[in-house]
Amino acid sequence: MADKRQRIGIFDSGLGGTTVLKEMMKALPNEDYIYYGDNGNFPYGSGKTKNEIQKLTERILDFFVKNNCKLVIVACNTASTAAIDYLREKFPLPILGIVEAGIKIARKNTKTKNIAVISTKFTAESHGYKNKAKMIDTELNVKEIACVEFPMMIETGWDTFDNREELLNKYLAEIPKNVDTLVLGCTHYPLIRKDIEDRTKLKVVDPAVQIVDKVKQTLGSLDLLNDKKAKGKKIFFVTGETYHFKPTAEKFLGEEIEIYRIPK
Ligand code: DGL
Repeated sequence: MADKRQRIGIFDSGLGGTTVLKEMMKALPNEDYIYYGDNGNFPYGSGKTKNEIQKLTERILDFFVKNNCKLVIVACNTASTAAIDYLREKFPLPILGIVEAGIKIARKNTKTKNIAVISTKFTAESHGYKNKAKMIDTELNVKEIACVEFPMMIETGWDTFDNREELLNKYLAEIPKNVDTLVLGCTHYPLIRKDIEDRTKLKVVDPAVQIVDKVKQTLGSLDLLNDKKAKGKKIFFVTGETYHFKPTAEKFLGEEIEIYRIPK
């Protein structure tokens, strides 16, 4: 049986999910978190099939279940698009997806009902956002744009790429004129939020802010919110390198992290 003192599992194909963890730490600081970065299998968003992503994420869910989690956040839009229904069928614990949160936050912010989503190739080509919009608000028009190179550039060191400005301008130019809200539909993109906001007048929204409410609501309704007073603990597991992951995550989160490498 689930218990209040169990952990919240958060996973991504790499660094991106730390943008979700950061929002969670602000909103629910006394919870304990396990972060799983599958950077040994990065990227999920280009060059992998739906089936491959489902199998990789199934292993992650097994890991979370063995490591005492009460709820899992799929902090990867690509994995949410490819695998959330699959995972929900296989595992009995609550599994929350970031794409649904993205549609909800866009819906709250748009006045024109025309939104754009920048994402990975997989999320855009599978219409992760368009399909979810159909289930939540049929009046929403969604323009999906795949920023193919961005996840790898952000994962390995955004500032080291001289063509980043050129690519940003190219993708932002694809946004139709009637759009008023831009969704960061890949959890890596909040890491370059400032560079995006400097080049657009659109309202930029991060689904991570929305998923926090859903976590509170879900744990609250199950009476599973952690009731301890002390600050929660975080532990990181990655399936690939730590030499870049660790300092980048620490800089972004503003604190030192405990991290272990596990087989991919
Ligand atoms: N962070 C992942 C997402 O939100 C994508 C990165 C990748 O391609 O693996 O879609």
